[in-house]
Amino acid sequence: MNNRKKRIHIIATGGTIAGKGLEGVTAQYRACGISIDSLVSEIPSTEHLAELTYEQMINVDSNNITYDNWLNLAKRVNELAKSDDIDGFVITHGTDTMDETAYFLNLVLKTNKPIVLTGAMRPATATSPDGPMNLYQAIALASSNQAVGKGVLVVFSDGIYSGRDVQKVNNFKTDAFNERDFACLGYMRDDKPYFFYESIKTHTTDTVFDITNVDRLPQVSIIYFYLGAPVSILDYYAKNNDGLVIAGTGNGSYSDEWIEKVSEISDKKGIPVVRSSRVGSGMIIKNKYMDKSPNCIPANSLVPHKARILLSLALTRTNSIEEITAMFKQY
Ligand code: SIN
Repeated sequence: MNNRKKRIHIIATGGTIAGKGLEGVTAQYRACGISIDSLVSEIPSTEHLAELTYEQMINVDSNNITYDNWLNLAKRVNELAKSDDIDGFVITHGTDTMDETAYFLNLVLKTNKPIVLTGAMRPATATSPDGPMNLYQAIALASSNQAVGKGVLVVFSDGIYSGRDVQKVNNFKTDAFNERDFACLGYMRDDKPYFFYESIKTHTTDTVFDITNVDRLPQVSIIYFYLGAPVSILDYYAKNNDGLVIAGTGNGSYSDEWIEKVSEISDKKGIPVVRSSRVGSGMIIKNKYMDKSPNCIPANSLVPHKARILLSLALTRTNSIEEITAMFKQY
């Protein structure tokens, strides 16, 4: 049996964990800038956990992350994961879009090795930054055999979350993530993971998505419905997108005028439209009153910004509404 220390590779992308601001305060800062070597040096001890290597892939506020950044990150992890010299990955990331990147990677990475995203709500220059503990626990989780084969995970404020279901749920508290209906997969107590649940949704090595030769992701936009939302915005978006996601009210609902327009867009223009809900929990299933066009796809339990990722990846594989609908059940 090989008892060597685990080798964990950290890929840093910026975010508040690398944020610099007015000394001591948490609310006035720029969410990027500090390098990964400096962040690692702020953790008192990692030697007992793993041997670390790291790279600064980008250093940005995560609101500036592009499709190109996503593809580069996924291709880099897929390439490095082939090496026996790396046992797991930590990706540091801004919290604003961490749930999007986690789901994207969960669908396209081709490895069973642990992949753990983390970040911070307080900048590195705050009085009591949360970044060092989150990073420490992310390294510990990536080094754990318990994280092997679990897909992309997020560690935040002692919680372990799945890349599929994690959501940012608070905009300033340090305990900013959860999975709403699905709680969390487990807890970290210092450097020890304790798992309680596992998602049965297909991920990483078992998905059909292969981005090796993908240079452009199909354009899918989200349209938010609210009382009085003009129907003309649907025409505008239909002209400029390969697919659409509608963030409807409650059960993925919108007005009669929108129902007619959505079915016209999807029937006549052949644009797939995913019906999701702005509520943030629950699930959407096929509904004969809402989904007048056969080209409307229920989002299942995905929130709009995750439904958009799945529709975009689905369109790299197929235009068949039946197949895309099946993907929304599977992933
Ligand atoms: C960001 O997402 O880069 C800014 C906010 C954060 O990291 O908390």
